[in-house]
This record gives sequence, structure tokens and C-alpha cells, in this order.
Amino acid sequence: MFFAVVALLLSLSFICYLALSTTPPKKPHGIFSLPAAYTSYSSYLQMSNTELARMRTSYASIPHPHKKLGYAIGYPGKLNRLAEIYQKNAKVTRAIAASAELQFPQEIASAKSELTSQSVFGWLLPPRTRNSYATTASLVRVREALKHFIRDWSTAGDAERKVIFTPILDVLRYLSKSTSLSTPYTSGPYKSLLIPGSGLSRLAYEASLLGYDTTACELSMYMNLAFRFLLDETTTNAVGQHEVHPYAHWFSHQRNSWRGGEDGEGEGDQNSLTSFRGIKFPDIVPRLTDPQKTGNGGSLNLIEGDFLSLSKPTPGYDLLVTLFFIDTSPNILSTLNHIYHLLRPGGLWINLGPLLYTSSASYPGAGGSNLELSLDEIVRVAKMVGLDVVGYGEDGRKIGNGDVEEDLDRIPECFRPRTIPCEYTADKSAMMRWVYEAEFFVARKI
Ligand SMILES: C[S@@+](CC[C@H](N)C(=O)[O-])C[C@H]1O[C@@H](n2cnc3c(N)ncnc32)[C@H](O)[C@@H]1O
Repeated sequence: MFFAVVALLLSLSFICYLALSTTPPKKPHGIFSLPAAYTSYSSYLQMSNTELARMRTSYASIPHPHKKLGYAIGYPGKLNRLAEIYQKNAKVTRAIAASAELQFPQEIASAKSELTSQSVFGWLLPPRTRNSYATTASLVRVREALKHFIRDWSTAGDAERKVIFTPILDVLRYLSKSTSLSTPYTSGPYKSLLIPGSGLSRLAYEASLLGYDTTACELSMYMNLAFRFLLDETTTNAVGQHEVHPYAHWFSHQRNSWRGGEDGEGEGDQNSLTSFRGIKFPDIVPRLTDPQKTGNGGSLNLIEGDFLSLSKPTPGYDLLVTLFFIDTSPNILSTLNHIYHLLRPGGLWINLGPLLYTSSASYPGAGGSNLELSLDEIVRVAKMVGLDVVGYGEDGRKIGNGDVEEDLDRIPECFRPRTIPCEYTADKSAMMRWVYEAEFFVARKI
């Protein structure tokens, strides 16, 4: 009996060992979850300083004469300035985390206790299960959110926004002026609008100002906590109240260095020629309900969750807008199916974006897309699913020559498919440009 109990205990502990050593890294609520986002915003400074320490170590490793040259041009001073910038950015990331603590007290308390138990018992676990939230990827996500503040909610982001918002807002304006419009392409009225993958929701906000009942749906709590920080009147109540230095961390392609003066201040953080510059936001103070919006009959509603699990309101959304979104899905076919499902018959899908897939084949370890379709394949599948993409032929190619030219002329101008060269959270002072040739099109649910 004694031996049987010992054998049982031994086999149980072996099973436990196997479970610990073979289960994937512990992500209790997913990489975009509230605990992950909260922990990453709270640890921004610590994670950034760890990275900065590596930069200092690299600099320290170069030969002495080179170090002297580096000193002469102020390189160590630049690293010191970066440390100060991280402190400044951390004012915002800490405020986002503090606002989250007030808004989600229970969830944050349990995330904290889980992290404490991880740090107490961490040495018992295989290395990959420790500190599952404070990773390079989570630092990247926080930095992306800081850039989104500028792209979505600053005057510095105006130019980038104008290029991508205008084609979409033109369609929305056209439809709102002719509410009962019934043509081969439209069957109004159009009032309800869904924007899945809404990011920091500026587009959703603009749509609501045009009078649409707009639902913004965003999965990532990195984005949602950042947007909540803007919506919360205890954290954001004035134009230009906050400042971040969103491009400082990337030393590649910097044209001009920040220069420190004798007083320890530089050429000025506002100097638009350096990547260290600080940028103020917001350009307007957003609220879910504000007089301008409600005066136009519009509304804005935020759903924090997965678009693929959204259920259809009756009889379905009149409009669905995807901006830099359809390529983010592990399975673009589910996205197309769900867009079809959520629209009412005659409802319109407006899309603008590139096709930047992140499958594990192209980005090892990313675990992203399961299939990577070209634009013509997407258009063909959309047509099979029941979404007729305006201005494209059966072969999935844009029409515009020979015998089909006439058809194109009948399409309202703002509905015509177009290629839109555009950027995404770009640093205007950098020595490189990543320009997408994004595609804009409108599709109608048959
Ligand atoms: C490339 S970003 C674009 C964000 C925004 N549309 C913009 O242009 O600023 C894609 C966004 O979609 C979100 N997303 C991806 N899959 C989602 C899903 N299934 N449900 C809701 N949001 C999702 C991501 O978290 C991310 O914020």
C-alpha cells in the first residue's frame, strides 16, 4: 500500500512537471488582455530602461578612442536625454495604468496578485513562463499606442489622417445627404455603422459627428486603455494637455540628433527636425456623448472585444468600415464571412488598407495569419460570400478598360475603387518612408 501511494505521488509529480515544461507560455487572458495591457503600461519605464541599459553597455564596449569621439559628438548625452524622455513618456503610461486601476479595480487587483505569485514562485517555473507580460512585444505595443495618440489625436497627425479618412468620410457624407437613396449601389437609409479594429477610434469619432450611430469595436486593451484615458475627464480635459515623444526610441534613420546645451536643455523638444521631439495631444477632447455629435443625431459606442464574436443587431448594420484591418485576422475568410453576416441586405462595406500579413512563415514566432490572400483573391471570395465589390470584375481585377469602362462611369465618384498611397504612424523627420499602396473599395451585401 505504502509503495502504491509513493508510486502514485511520483507519477503525479511527473505529470505536473510535464505540464509545466510542455505547456505554452502562460498567457492567462491573452496577449491583448486587460492584465497584459495594464502591466505593460505600468512597466513601460522599467522595460525601456532595460533596453537603454543594453544600449549603454554596447556603447561602453567600443574601444576607448572611439568612445572619446562618441563623447565629442555628445552620444552619451543623447543616451542620457533618452532616459529623460522615457521618464516623460512614462508620465502618460503611468496615468493610463492609474486610470485603468480606477476603471477595472477587481480585474487589476487579480492581475497584480497573479504577478506577485509569479515573482514569488517564478524560480520554480521554466524560464519561458516567467514575467509573461513584460516582454519586448508588450513594449512594442505600448510604443505603438503612443504613436497612435499622435496619428489619431494630434494636429501633427492631421496630414496622415486626411489621406486615409477622406475617401471613407466622402462616402459617409454622400450617403448621409441622400438618406433614402436607392440605386444599383445603394439602398438607404444608412444610419448604423460598425468599425471593427477601431484602434484609438478617431475615425469612429468623425463618423459619429456626421450623424451616424457608430459602434467602434477593438480587441486590444492596449488601444482601449489609451482611448479610455482620452475619454476620462479626470485624465484628459484640455486640448494639448499631454505630451509624448513617440519616435525617440528608434535610432535608425534619424537625420538630426538632439543637442544638449550647457543648461542641460536641448535645441528644444518641439524642434520638428529631431526624432526626440515631443508632440502634444489631443487636438480635440473626445467624449462618447458630446453636444456636437448628439446635435447631428449621431452617437458613439465602444465595444471592447473580438469583432468575430459580435452578434448581429436586427436587421444588421447599415454600414461597416474597415481601415487597416482585414489583414490582421488569422483567417481572412472568417472576417469576410462575418462582415457579410453583420450587414443588413443592401448594407455597404467600405474598406481601406494594405495587405500586410504576419503569418509565422513571413514573421517567425508571430503566429499570425493562416492564409494570405492577394487582393484579387479577396475580391473573388467576397463575391462568393455575397459581397459585391463595386468596380471589380468577376476575375477579382479592378475594371477600367475596354468594354467595361461604361460601367465604371455609372458608379458614384466617391464609390470608385482607388489606390491610396499612405503612411501609418510615420515619423516625418526620419530618413525613410514606408508608403503603403492601400486599396480603397466599397462592397454591397447582395
Ligand atoms: C492595424 S490596426 C488599425 C487600427 C485602426 N483601424 C487604425 O487605422 O488606426 C488593427 C487593429 O485591429 C484590432 N483587431 C484585430 N483583430 C481584431 C478583432 N478580431 N476584433 C477587434 N479588433 C481587432 C487590433 O487590435 C488593432 O488595433
